[in-house]
Amino acid sequence: MSNAPGLVSPPAPCFRGRDLAPSGLFRSGLFLAARNARRAPLKCCAATVGGGVEDHVLGTAAASSKPRLPRVVGMGSKLVGCGSAVPKLLISNDDLAQIVETSDEWISVRTGIRNRRVLTGNETLSGLAVEAAKRALQMAQVEPDDVDLVIMCTSTPDDLFGCGARVQRDLGCKNAWAFDATAACSGFVVGLITATRFIKGGGFQNVLVIGADALSRFVDWTDRGTCILFGDAAGAVLVQACSDEEDGLLGFDFHSDGHGQKYLNAIAKDEETELISNNNGAPLFPAKRSSFSCIQMNGKEVFRFAVRCVPQSIEAALLEAGLTSSSIDWLLLHQANQRIIDAVATRLQMPSDKVISNLANYGNTSAASIPLALDEAVRSGRVQAGNTIAAAGFGAGVTWGSAIVRWK
Ligand code: ACO
Repeated sequence: MSNAPGLVSPPAPCFRGRDLAPSGLFRSGLFLAARNARRAPLKCCAATVGGGVEDHVLGTAAASSKPRLPRVVGMGSKLVGCGSAVPKLLISNDDLAQIVETSDEWISVRTGIRNRRVLTGNETLSGLAVEAAKRALQMAQVEPDDVDLVIMCTSTPDDLFGCGARVQRDLGCKNAWAFDATAACSGFVVGLITATRFIKGGGFQNVLVIGADALSRFVDWTDRGTCILFGDAAGAVLVQACSDEEDGLLGFDFHSDGHGQKYLNAIAKDEETELISNNNGAPLFPAKRSSFSCIQMNGKEVFRFAVRCVPQSIEAALLEAGLTSSSIDWLLLHQANQRIIDAVATRLQMPSDKVISNLANYGNTSAASIPLALDEAVRSGRVQAGNTIAAAGFGAGVTWGSAIVRWK
């Protein structure tokens, strides 16, 4: 990535002043009153658009982006629930050694990965996302009706146009609206920050952030340089509005640099063109049909980029939070390669017992990796209420960013 300006010289940190609302502008009493008063009937213009479309689809069951709380500057947001789900089929390194020239030893030494899960049969990415989100809602003790927004972070949706709305439907979140966010392996951190912006500025109370990917769909199973890395999974968190004093999003930092796209991509490629003709057979134009290539990656360059840029980003987010790495309880990086995780931890001087890692079992699950690892760490009792976590994502685009969050 030596030609990428943002990747050669240290990228400019993107500091923002935190919302500094006068204390007392937002008090919990006001918050509760506003919450209970919010259920105005939803107006939906879509019902007048689709002649022939059933009312229950575009009528009462369809929610709008109208905030259900007053827009109050200074509102905080915190993580109150998490969940995850993985496909049934497990593919081990030994299994891969039967299809490409590799070995369990090479893969585990170079990456730390031993197994990964892959979607099969009638499993779908949306199905995994729904399962993960249901568990997050259960932990948060929030009913589907009380969710305001679903952010589906994925680069591999079941539908080219996105599957957030389908996930919202299947969860029964009938008062929520939904959209997809695509930022590859940074997707979950992007979704998390986006959720806090909706809460802080938009009057939303409960936002489900789901990271889910099935990169196995775009893996070239004859390429030993990439097929050993990826797995499929979904993870979710419930981000909830709270008072400014309880705010659990302490700092963040984000970057993108399209110069790095050439090192990691799955590019749309045009297939054979067919000539579209008019009724008389005269040629009008050559129509294109596209599909995506398999994942193409220059592993060495991606490795260098991650090891250089991720610690810088975490340091910038820590600075914004007014914290140092020594005051962080957990380092939770996108689970791409154990050597990347170790190098970043060393750079930040974080001991290995503060580093969360589960990629041995799942490989690189892209947008799912951070919430999947968080969920395991929370449910096993490692991460506890009040713990501070430095989370960072990085990946195709290229994009990278960090968030310093408090769990609950
Ligand atoms: N098994 C055995 N040998 C292999 C394998 C394999 N699976 N893969 C490569 N090799 C060989 C190569 O052919 C090469 O052989 P040679 O020296 O005879 O030419 C040798 O091993 C070294 O290959 P490198 O590519 O230099 O190996 P490296 O140590 O860089 O490890 C890896 C490769 C694991 C891919 C590493 O570069 C990496 O993890 N990079 C980061 C990838 C990453 O994090 N991607 C994030 C994606 S995030 C997203 O947004 C999708």
